[in-house]
Amino acid sequence: MPQKFSYAKRDVTNILPEGWQKDIGAVAAEADFRDFPRTPVLSREAADVTHIKRGRVHADAVQQRLPWLYKLYRSDFLELAAEAWGEPINAAYDDRYGVVLNVQRGKTMRFECHVDSNPVTGLLFFTDHPAGGGELVVGHDPSAVGVEALERDGTAIRPRAGQLIFFDGKTYPHYARALSDGAGESDVRVVAVMNFYTSSCPESTRPQGLNRHLFGAD
Ligand SMILES: [Fe+2]
Repeated sequence: MPQKFSYAKRDVTNILPEGWQKDIGAVAAEADFRDFPRTPVLSREAADVTHIKRGRVHADAVQQRLPWLYKLYRSDFLELAAEAWGEPINAAYDDRYGVVLNVQRGKTMRFECHVDSNPVTGLLFFTDHPAGGGELVVGHDPSAVGVEALERDGTAIRPRAGQLIFFDGKTYPHYARALSDGAGESDVRVVAVMNFYTSSCPESTRPQGLNRHLFGAD
């Protein structure tokens, strides 16, 4: 039996560089916004869902335009992950998926219901939102499929700017709710998504075909 879902949270506002809001806002505005096809192997969307509209700042753009975030992923955040997990943690060697941004703009975008390929996921929220929109919802049942199932039996985590959470997204399916009905078309939700690995579940266990789907090459 898997353990009950839990997550660790750390306020990292004091280690973010001055002007981080401006940097994040500028980069998020130029995210790749479109209908993304469901992810092979990892999707937990209901069978009839083929695409989900959302935004992504790809890892190369993060590395070039947010060098401080790329660096924190491989230093302070890595240490916090190891502390939270109680075991040694590695960052990704492959720069194509180590740290990316997920961006939702307006009230129709949401993030796909899925499980992760990596054993430890770090999410650093960069925006605050009123209750009732934009929450990360993590299902308690590892076999749950579809948004409704997660909403029926899950934990909703409200984004707080500057808060970094760690959780087992490989075991527990999760998705991000659309922003609330009160959101304007220019309202954005921005979160950094970081892949972390352990010695029992190293980067080499990443499913075959996933890189080809995401990047066009293994
Ligand atoms: Fe995830």
